[in-house]
Order: sequence, then structure tokens, then C-alpha cells
Amino acid sequence: MSDNRFYITTPIYYPSDKLHIGHTYCTVATDAIARYQRLRGREVMFLTGTDEHGQKIEDKAAEAGVSPKEFVDKIVCGDRGVLDLWKLMNISNDRFIRTTDDYHVSAIQKIFKKMYENGDIYKGKYVGKYCKPCESFWTESQLVDGKCPDCGREVQDAEEEAYFFRLSKYADRIQDLLENTDFLEPRSRVNEMVNNFIKPGLEDLCVSRTSFTWGVPVDFDPGHVVYVWVDALSNYITALGYDNDKYDDFDKFWPADVHIVGKEIVRFHSIIWPAMLMSLGLPLPRKVFGHGWLLLDGGKMSKSKGNVVDPYILAEMFGVDALRFFLMRTFPFGSDGNFSNELLIQTINTDLANDLGNLVSRTTAMVGKYFGGQLPAGCKTWAEPQEVDTQLISMASALRDAYQKDMDTYAPHKALEEVFKVIQRANKYIDENAPWALAKDMEQSGARLAHVLYNLLETTRICGVLLTPFMPESMDKLFAQIGACEGCRTWDSAGVWGSLSDHATVSKGENLFPRVDAEKALEELERVAEEAKKAALPALEVEPLSEEHVDFDTFCKNDLRAVKVVNCENVKKSNKLLKFTLDDGTGTHRQILSGIAQYYKPEELIGKTLVAIVNLPPRKMMGQESQGMLISAVHTERGEEKLNLLMVSDAIPAGAKLC
Ligand code: MSP
Repeated sequence: MSDNRFYITTPIYYPSDKLHIGHTYCTVATDAIARYQRLRGREVMFLTGTDEHGQKIEDKAAEAGVSPKEFVDKIVCGDRGVLDLWKLMNISNDRFIRTTDDYHVSAIQKIFKKMYENGDIYKGKYVGKYCKPCESFWTESQLVDGKCPDCGREVQDAEEEAYFFRLSKYADRIQDLLENTDFLEPRSRVNEMVNNFIKPGLEDLCVSRTSFTWGVPVDFDPGHVVYVWVDALSNYITALGYDNDKYDDFDKFWPADVHIVGKEIVRFHSIIWPAMLMSLGLPLPRKVFGHGWLLLDGGKMSKSKGNVVDPYILAEMFGVDALRFFLMRTFPFGSDGNFSNELLIQTINTDLANDLGNLVSRTTAMVGKYFGGQLPAGCKTWAEPQEVDTQLISMASALRDAYQKDMDTYAPHKALEEVFKVIQRANKYIDENAPWALAKDMEQSGARLAHVLYNLLETTRICGVLLTPFMPESMDKLFAQIGACEGCRTWDSAGVWGSLSDHATVSKGENLFPRVDAEKALEELERVAEEAKKAALPALEVEPLSEEHVDFDTFCKNDLRAVKVVNCENVKKSNKLLKFTLDDGTGTHRQILSGIAQYYKPEELIGKTLVAIVNLPPRKMMGQESQGMLISAVHTERGEEKLNLLMVSDAIPAGAKLC
């Protein structure tokens, strides 16, 4: 193992539904940290992937009428699937594992067998509760109000022959690991784990299932499949080549430097995973970091609530970098945060359009206007620096170290806070120096003006380097605009004031972060959300069949006739009613009023042959008499009521009786 390597992972995703902004948050955060480590010069292995086994997937596939593999393939590799999303979000993972990959499956079988052979896995009988959506076993005492303590949903009774992992054996070592090292962060999560899971007594874990088949088969006991969490957690080592020949950098990268995980799966990563590794005799990861959740209106995002936020839509509307930045800047990484579109737009407009965007565009525009795009050589230094120069330069020079401290402690939101303090200071520096006033007398103040602009470019460069892990594409454009060479985009150069050449070629390019018209954007998002809600509604709903019988004689009393539409028009002052003049075969016209104006234009019905019930007592509507009722078919499509008049063949003569 070399000291320079850095191994970082995100949880591998359940491809049971499309990913939402919460999943994106976790992967973007991990990506920013991985990019930061690369910037530091580390050899990074960044792993993500998909966790494709388990009963939930098997059930969903059955519902969709496809095989589980076909089902997951579509969500992982299909249009706007997991792979597409990570590509769009510019996720720089070095490896992608699918737990259905052959090499992983056979490695899991070996891992399971090893733990069986060393006595840590034994056969027994499971009696307890199981939460299908979470794929978690629970004991009665762990339930909250009789429901799953993680998701609050109903649990099912489960009783089956199963293999167990001797988790209890490792309880003391795990408690020591959690309490006496920095293994798990933030610290608040340690108390949660110790008090809720370890102190009440760590029970052995059921690690095989027999009631479904979509999993890694236990090769020495047909009928059993490996518990999905044992399968999933092991991805962190199989993806490096542990117990397989597909890869061979296990020795180089293991132990992981950090597993970034959401708070609800900290339990699996900080208790079960270290115990498994202890059983296998492998070193433990250096850290598990449990981040908070993005909430919507204070509650959880979930497909069943219909309130998930689609990252594709946000990235397409506001830009990938703006979205990445917003996620990292706004929510303290270890805590929960409330997502809202308003907050997203506000952050883009304040930080990106106003503060950073303006700094770049004002500075580059002035270098263009006053110096033709190139400052005079020698403007880097100023014989008698003014107080404002010293303030800006010392803040920008100290920035990298403060940022490093925050990034190393998994507080990217704080690192960004530091960067934006400097950006705000630089904007103030423009106002303090009023370059436009200096430009009025270039002979007298030209040199001072060049120095002021250099200080601004250099501050922008340092901030740009440190923002690269968060907004890689935009920072490349920024560097091009301020003329930053390759050598002054590096971590080292971010710590050295004056790295930018004072003779760099500056060009005012495209506006990096256009201002968002909040009202228009919110309206558009609302429209899209409405559409998504509709799309989630059942495609087709018909009324349940009546269970009440009607006797034949009563039915026969309905006088149903074919009628021809002689005329049809809107009823004045009503937006619902149409007035029909009908030929009912009697030689005199019949008038029927029908509340279907929203479905038909009157002229399109003239000449059609419809069906009417003609022996209803006449009734008045909007002062006009209706002599019967036209028959229509009614159903609901995506929440919207649809109506179709019953039309019959024109070969049927007016007055023909329907029976
Ligand atoms: N398959 C498991 C992980 C196995 S790792 C060995 C799993 N998958 S998941 O798709 O349900 O969740 C993946 C990650 O997304 C988790 O870290 C979870 O916390 C995170 N998030 C899901 N919804 C989230 C929010 N609303 N907010 C932030 N992160 C959230 O768990």
C-alpha cells in the first residue's frame, strides 16, 4: 500500500426506481471529495455501482412482467438510467460495480464460505420480522410502534431455516472501534449506534434467505441465497479484486480511506461491515462518514409520496455545475437539509451569478477595455501596498489552508463558505479601488489600475482552483478567461500568491453563470412537477362493476334508441351544455341537453348516430327542456376524467331499438 493512494466509495444504489436528487447529493459529494484528493496529487480510486439483488427487486420485476436482470438492466443502463445520470453529473468514478457481475457473484460465494468455514456463519432458524423495502431483519423489541424503525412501514412475520453470522461475537470490538477511534463520523452517529444497537445487545445476524431466489446462491446449500447486505457491503473489496481475478488492486487500495454513506445505512457500515471484515481477517476501512438527508417540506423523499425531485430536470434547467455547487454549498454535510427550488435558484443567483460571475466578468471586461486583454509585465508587485491590497492578498493566500482543513474533515459546505468569503472580499475590493476612476487618467494611475486588476485575477484564480472539485467544467472555462496556464491550476499553486503570470492573456468569454429568472423558472418547475404527478397516476381507471343485480323486466323498461344528430349547438350562458336536435325515427325532432361541451365541439357531432334513452321524464336545464339522455362511456386517465359518446354505425336507422 502506498501512502499516496486514496480509496473512496459511495453506497451502491438499489435500482428499484430511478434515482432522485437525494441519491445525486451523496454521489456528487463523494465526487467532489474524490476530485479534491486528485487535486492534492493523490492516486484516487473512486468506486460506485449498483446493488441489484434482493426480494424488492424480484417483486418489482414480477410486477413489471420481466426478469429481475432485465428489470435492473433497464434502470442501470437504460435511457436516463443510473449510468446516464452519473455521466450527466460529471461523476468521475474510476470503477463501477454491479452486484450481478459474475466476478462479484463468485467472490461472494467464496466470502460466505470462508466465514462458514471459520465458524462465524452457522445454520439455524430465523423467527422474527422482516422489512421488505429495507431488506432488514428486526426483532420484536427493535420495532417502533410495531413498524420498521428505519422506514416506518409494516413488517412481515418471517420464519425460515437460515444461516446466521456471529455478529454478537464482535460486539465489544465494534463498541471499542466506535467509541475510541475516529472510525465513524460525525460523532453524533456514534452515540446513535452504541445506544440503539450495541448496548441493547447485538444479536447474530440472519445472512441467508430461502423464500425467494434473486440473490447470490449459497453454493454449498442450494435453496439459500446470501442476504443482500452481505452481498452489497462486500462490493467494496470485490471491486478491487478480492477473491476474484477481474481486478488486482486490493493490496494497493485496501483499506478504504472513507465510505461515504447516508445516515440510514450507517448501521450496516459501522457495525455489520467491520464485523464481516474482522471475521475475514482483513483491515478495517479508515472511516465511515454518515451524511444527512435532503428532505422535502421537512419529510422524506419517496416515490410512494410522489414527491421525488428529478435531477435530470434540474441539471437541464440550471446547469450541471450550478446543481452540483448548490448541493454542496447549501447543506451542512453531516446534517439533514430541506431542499427547495426557491433555495436552489437563490443560491445560483446570489453566489454564482452575483458574486463569482460578476467578479469574473467585471475583471476580465476591465482588463480587455483598459489594457486590450493583457496587463503590463511587472504589475504583480506594488511598491507601497495599500491596506486594501494587503487585506485581499492575505485572505486569498490563507484560503487554501482553511479550505484544506474543512475538506479533510468532510465539511465541504464550510470549505465553500471560506471560498465565498474571499470572492465577496474581492468584489468589495473592486468598489474600494474604483478602477473606472483610475482609468480616467491612465498616465497617472495606469500602473495602479494594472496592479488592482492583477490582484483580482489572482484572487479569482486561487478561488477557481479550489472550486474545481465542485464545478470542474465551469472552472476550466474560468481559467481560460483569466489566462491561467496548466501550472497555475494546481493545488500547489493555489497556496502561492502570484502564480498567475502578470502578462497572461485575458478574454471576456461567455457568462459563466447566467442569472435565473426565478418567477419563470419556478413556474416551469411547477408545470413539470404537475406533469410528473400525472404520469405517476394510474394510466387507466374504470369504475368497479356494480354488484347490485337488476331484474330483467326492469332492465327492459329502458327504451334505448339509435338517434341521428340533426343539429348541435352550445347552450347560451353555459359552458357545459350542448343542445342536440335529434331524429329519433318518429318524424318529429327530439331535443336533448347534455353536459359534455368540454369534450366535443358541436359541429363535429352533426350527422353522427348516437344512442339515447328516450323514456326518461322530460326535465328542464337552463330553461330548456331535455327529452332523454345520450349514452356515453366514462373512464379516468392519469387522474383526468374522459368521456366518449356512444356512436354507432350510420347504417343503423334512426329509431332502431337497442335491446
Ligand atoms: N443499496 C444500498 C447501499 C448499499 S452500500 C453497500 C442503499 N441504496 S439506496 O439506493 O437506497 O441509497 C443509496 C444512498 O442514497 C444512501 O446512502 C442513501 O442514504 C442515499 N439517499 C437516498 N435518499 C436520500 C436523500 N433524500 N438524501 C440524501 N441521501 C439519500 O441504501
